[in-house]
Amino acid sequence: MSREIPLSAPWLGEREEEAVLEALRSGRLSLGPMVERFELALAERIGATRVAAVSSGTAGLHLAVRLAGLGPGDEVVTTPYSFVASANCVLYEGATPVFVDVEPRTLNLDPTAVAEAVTERTKAILAVDIFGYPAELDELDSIARRHRLALIEDACEALGAVYRGRPVGSLGHPAVFAFYPNKQLTTGEGGAVTLESDDAWELLKSLSNQGRVDSGEWLTHGHLGFNYRLDELSAALGLAQLERLDETLELRAAVASRYADLLGTIDGVELPAPDDDEHVRSWFVYVVRLAEEVDRDAVMARLADEGGPGKPYLPCIHLQPYWRDRFGTSEGMYPAAEAASRQTLALPFYTQLGADDQERVGEALRRALR
Ligand SMILES: Cc1ncc(COP(=O)(O)O)c(C=O)c1O
Repeated sequence: MSREIPLSAPWLGEREEEAVLEALRSGRLSLGPMVERFELALAERIGATRVAAVSSGTAGLHLAVRLAGLGPGDEVVTTPYSFVASANCVLYEGATPVFVDVEPRTLNLDPTAVAEAVTERTKAILAVDIFGYPAELDELDSIARRHRLALIEDACEALGAVYRGRPVGSLGHPAVFAFYPNKQLTTGEGGAVTLESDDAWELLKSLSNQGRVDSGEWLTHGHLGFNYRLDELSAALGLAQLERLDETLELRAAVASRYADLLGTIDGVELPAPDDDEHVRSWFVYVVRLAEEVDRDAVMARLADEGGPGKPYLPCIHLQPYWRDRFGTSEGMYPAAEAASRQTLALPFYTQLGADDQERVGEALRRALR
């Protein structure tokens, strides 16, 4: 068997080493200047009013839900075709996620279905930019305004994406980013939330720091808080990664475009939705869709044999064991999301993936589908 190609890998170099060492040698490992510098640099890069760094994307989502004041009895309309954290964060606050189906081409929330799902109990829409492709944010924003709902954007996979000429995270509603090592920018573990006002920023920072209030008293807790702080080493890593974000995004787009050339002519393989005037994807993963009649397991076995494994991606949230057990959800509820889940396959994808490895993956896929 030939060398295995990883599914994802961070792009790290000397700048990252220097920055982390600088933080380490400063002796200040938490609550220091790196987090603030990272927040300011990220806000400037995204064009957001304020950015609050947190310990993960999930932590950011939880706090965004909390800031929106959601709780028991409140419904939040969201997508079943996502990573589980985008719906779990609603459960953390005792509110109820209401799934609606996705649009089969983009795999993002279908705004018409969202509008139809709004009831008197609906308090928020939680949109996900799945695989880095911006959701229909203006349409969702107008539904939210019409019904006085909060709009929260899970942009965990979409740092660098652009919607109608504006960077995701700069549109006014809170957007949450994640920095796990498979992301376009990594801090190891980490996340960030964009916020429009200083008050919202201060509250979110306080909630992420055990509810401490700015009284100078370390052991004074004004809110029920959490420890969702990003540490200094992670923030330093993030600063170094941010310096090369533009280059990272360009390289990832080039890797995606090489895949499109290699795979576009294979019968039974549908490529990810292309960019258009309104949506510029930030390449997080490369997910193809196999024709319904193709045996995905057989394709994956073939890819694994040839050293370029693929992964079924993503399973639907409502079909996860925990969700089935707790809510009695089952197959047939969201046909577009479920069909996508059955047919989608993530291929090895990362910033420095070489053309030769991509050719191996392409050849293996072509042979598997013959
Ligand atoms: C859509 C989406 N939401 C939320 C998260 C959670 O982010 P984290 O792993 O940083 O908690 C992820 C991470 O993969 C994600 O892809």
